[in-house]
Amino acid sequence: MSASGGRKLAHVALLPSAGMGHLTPFLRLAALLVARNVQVTFITPHPTVSLTESQALSTFFASFPQIKQKQFHLLPVEKNSFDPFFNHIELIKSSSHLLPPLLSALTPSLSAFITDMTLASAVIPITQAISLPNYVLFTSSAKMMTLFLSYPTLAGSRVLDDLEETDVIKIRNLELMPKSLVPPPLLQKSDNFLKKSFMEDSGKVTESSGILVNTFVSFEFESLGKINDGEVLERPPAVVAIGPLPPYASEKSRLQLAWLDDQPAGSVLYVSFGSRTALARDQIRELGVGLITSGSRFVWVVKNNIVDKEDSQELEEVIGHELMERINEKGLIVKSWVHQEDILSHPAVGGFLSHCGWNSVMEAAWHGVRILAWPQNGDQKVNADIVERIGLGTWVRSWGWSGEMLVNGAEIAERIRACMGNESLRIQALGIKEDARKAVGFGGSSDKGLTELIGMWNQF
Ligand SMILES: *[C@@H]1O[C@H](CO)[C@@H](O)[C@H](O)[C@H]1NC(C)=O
Repeated sequence: MSASGGRKLAHVALLPSAGMGHLTPFLRLAALLVARNVQVTFITPHPTVSLTESQALSTFFASFPQIKQKQFHLLPVEKNSFDPFFNHIELIKSSSHLLPPLLSALTPSLSAFITDMTLASAVIPITQAISLPNYVLFTSSAKMMTLFLSYPTLAGSRVLDDLEETDVIKIRNLELMPKSLVPPPLLQKSDNFLKKSFMEDSGKVTESSGILVNTFVSFEFESLGKINDGEVLERPPAVVAIGPLPPYASEKSRLQLAWLDDQPAGSVLYVSFGSRTALARDQIRELGVGLITSGSRFVWVVKNNIVDKEDSQELEEVIGHELMERINEKGLIVKSWVHQEDILSHPAVGGFLSHCGWNSVMEAAWHGVRILAWPQNGDQKVNADIVERIGLGTWVRSWGWSGEMLVNGAEIAERIRACMGNESLRIQALGIKEDARKAVGFGGSSDKGLTELIGMWNQF
């Protein structure tokens, strides 16, 4: 793996899709690869959807001058979906014929190309045509991957239509998960972005050179085993767990966290529903009441728009003047994308009320912070189920999907108290942190997986 052997070093290009949930693991992987002497070219679809993405990119390139940035200028097209991020992914896909000249102009020639799973159906035919090994970075859990890989078969057999909510989905004799965990769009009769992606991209991913996944063996032993033992698909591509992808140094800002510095160790609940989910206004208010009633200290990221470029409404307008004043006595409110790393790594933080986006789950595991799961949509119930089973946190299943019901403040308060006061949960979370660090540390399962991949790329 060093230049001293006389071999050329691997040169790998990375292409993320849209949204922070997809961009973050790509940036972390890039940082991890350069630390291991891999040459990295990072291809950035241009323009980005959110300000947060473009800011993350400029901070990243400023701190990694050795990483080459290549802008991938997207074709202008009409918007056709209400979701700006899904729209953008379609746009990247429909611009993908512009990739071959971009890729072949890179020097030295590429050893491998790593793309987001949502781009697989467009990108893999292109890399196949130029005989470039193509890997997919799966940005959700391995458990979600079992569903992703089997979805075309399940949809084709209509088995999903016939099951009750509580029934377990089976493929051949393998139990995947209860139907109740499945992202709702995958169960809809009408066409939608997620269904289309799960049909088309899943089929193509099986033709990739391998799938990298941001998880670790001890965290998702069962799901990784099911895939790699050929129980989900007869001939799966190699699946390599390389997580948790560690946050890189410049993910920490020099944000003034004086308030947090003054709080006792482990006393603060961090509340965030991720970069994409905006709660309804009445639910934001109930959550505010719940936080105050719980008596816990908290840092709360409030968001009431999906794309930050549109975030203009004043917070006080959303939660009201009186509630705002009471909240300010007990907590810190942040209304924008925060550097989650600043908060989760802070010793004062002992709990995380989270939507369970996969990056957030991996970050909580990395820092040993227990989770109170409140999944909102997409893969988040699948992820919350993993969190609960492994003992990283608790989940109130009856709260349902986003907007299904209004969860009242008193109940939220009670669950916060139970989670923050649970000593065994605190200890379990610290044990998971140790496992996570072991996995990526020298000789750990994720370290070995990545080392083998780089060894192969060095020889290409
Ligand atoms: C703490 O959480 C665990 C789940 O990991 C649960 O089984 C246990 O009952 C909780 N303890 C208390 C005292 O609530």
